[in-house]
Amino acid sequence: MTRFEGPLGKNKDLRIEPWTPNFEKTPGIKGGQTKQPYVDFGGDRMADNEKYFSPEVLAKEWDLLCTKVWMIVGHLNDVPEEDCFMKVDYGRESFIIVRGKGDSVRAFFNVCQHRGTRFVTADFGRAKSWTCPFHHWRYTNDGKLDNVYERESFREETLCRNLDLAPIKVEAWKGWIFINMDPNAGPLTDYLGERFRESLDAFEYRKFIRLYDVRQTWNMNWKAAIEAFIEGYHVTAIHPELCTFMDDYYVQHDIYDNGHGRSIFPFMEPAQSYLATTKGGQEGLRDEMKLFLSAALVDEKDHPKRWQDVKAAVIAGKRRNQAKLGFDFSRFSDDQLVDDWNLSFFPFATFNTHPEGVLFQRWVPDAEDPRKTHYHLQIYAMQGDCVIPSYMPISPEADRTGKNVLPITRLEGMGGPALGFVVQQDVDLVPKFQAGIESRGFKGASYGEQEIRVRQFYREYYRYMNKQRF
Ligand code: FES
Ligand SMILES: [Fe+2]
Repeated sequence: MTRFEGPLGKNKDLRIEPWTPNFEKTPGIKGGQTKQPYVDFGGDRMADNEKYFSPEVLAKEWDLLCTKVWMIVGHLNDVPEEDCFMKVDYGRESFIIVRGKGDSVRAFFNVCQHRGTRFVTADFGRAKSWTCPFHHWRYTNDGKLDNVYERESFREETLCRNLDLAPIKVEAWKGWIFINMDPNAGPLTDYLGERFRESLDAFEYRKFIRLYDVRQTWNMNWKAAIEAFIEGYHVTAIHPELCTFMDDYYVQHDIYDNGHGRSIFPFMEPAQSYLATTKGGQEGLRDEMKLFLSAALVDEKDHPKRWQDVKAAVIAGKRRNQAKLGFDFSRFSDDQLVDDWNLSFFPFATFNTHPEGVLFQRWVPDAEDPRKTHYHLQIYAMQGDCVIPSYMPISPEADRTGKNVLPITRLEGMGGPALGFVVQQDVDLVPKFQAGIESRGFKGASYGEQEIRVRQFYREYYRYMNKQRF
């Protein structure tokens, strides 16, 4: 029997390693970032389509994954002073995160120990204590039950047990707050891993504040949604506008421990798909390149004529004008001043990070419906007046001093201009993907090497689902 070789025959030009930026494109710019060793996740078809729509799988995910991982939920500057709190809803749970002295934080299940009422309903606030709306039991913000209304009506044996709020593990790293529902979870630093933490050494996240926060419910499985945000293979097809100033092919993909990953997308370097349409050249500079030059305070009269010179001009402009830009770039390598780092914090969050700001996205599984995801889009950026990347929206209500905490905007429907045109393009596409993967005519996904982080995601996912992780 002859072996089926596939419709394209043998792929003699297979590129697996190295998958690195093409530095020859912009002479003089060297990448300062350590390429992580290649990890071979194989090339098999991933046949388990039920994971996108089965309520049983969703329930199993809750027990084996959601309740076991460290989840990034916000930033210390969301609870900027002692006694500030925020509510975090996740699946069928709700938590309260409270700022203590200094950089300390505490976290509790948002559940009254009398009869189980969720007593905090505000997203953010400041309180030394909370009173449950059902029968007025009161808790101090360190979780202690400190008043039982009409206490004399309770027998002593009813009250002589621990009725304090149930605590949950919480830790902060570089200003980001993570929680973990598993009382036996190891430290957050171990979960993030040394190499992943080190890769972010230069970024001063502790000084970031939230400047944009919109949320929406999407009709798709949370994993189907995330897949579209941890690979760049779809960029040419779905986001052709990005190809005019971003390389989607010569991208450095880095695999870190415990499911975390990074892809470095070179900015100010058009994609080959775009260059092919312009016969290798580019008529003048695209608007996006001019925006980057302006944001680096490069005068229009000094704009380069060729795209090949734009990246170096942006970097030089940022370094030369850093005082006027309100930012110290000295700790960053040249490529960090321009390129887009797409990071994934397994399993629910991604960052698109630059020195000045982060586009932070989360996809939270719905409690009941595997075909629903709660999407969070947030911008965190450096406190003060520094110029942040032009593609990052800032809410008109945002206070860049960080004194006033920005409220959350909840959007109806799917997509819309508040998400920006790039996410809108993904939101238009992913429901088609969700519909197709439920077909009995679809036998499973066949990922290429540009989608290696999707393979990595599922390698880690199954470690949890098959109980190999704990
Ligand atoms: S349920 Fe909270 S006081 Fe009764
Ligand atoms: Fe996309």
